Amino acid sequence: MARAKQAKSAGAGTPDAITLLKADHRQVEDWFGQFEKARDANKKQMLATQICNALKVHTTIEEEIFYPAFLDATEEKDIHHEAEVEHDGAKKLIAEIEASSPDDDYFEAKVSVLSEMIKHHVKEEEGPGGMFSKSRDSDMDLDELGQQLAARKAELEGESDEGLDEPPPGGGKSRSSERRQHG
Ligand SMILES: [Fe+2]
Ligand SMILES: [Fe+2]
Repeated sequence: MARAKQAKSAGAGTPDAITLLKADHRQVEDWFGQFEKARDANKKQMLATQICNALKVHTTIEEEIFYPAFLDATEEKDIHHEAEVEHDGAKKLIAEIEASSPDDDYFEAKVSVLSEMIKHHVKEEEGPGGMFSKSRDSDMDLDELGQQLAARKAELEGESDEGLDEPPPGGGKSRSSERRQHG
């Protein structure tokens, strides 16, 4: 059995940027495939939530870290802008899916169109002459970027976990010790 990816620990052993981003693509493709086969509404709901959460994290780390580095290194404005516009389209659909449920008549259509959008987008990123191959040909530091992506990804995944089970007020970690008591 292959070793587990170490995407969570930013440090030695962290995959390079492209390996990390491609692994995200494969994960989401797998979930889209499972969604297609699923019969049960709960399962569909669970998979849709997983897909939406993963895509939100993925598009965020690309937009915050990878895309700016790509634009900087290659000056490939057309490729960069098209990718961002495609992200915006996907995010609108993600928001609609999150606001809907398997009871909604359009739920499956929305997930299926999102799947097609992502398939197209991934092809643009991974395909010949696409963003990833141009990144490999550039002087981008893909190892360093991989570490940054992994760190930010872990942070964002932590945030969405916290959102799931709201910690009791005052019970969680305090954000800062700014508030001092007088006296
Ligand atoms: Fe991507
Ligand atoms: Fe992307």
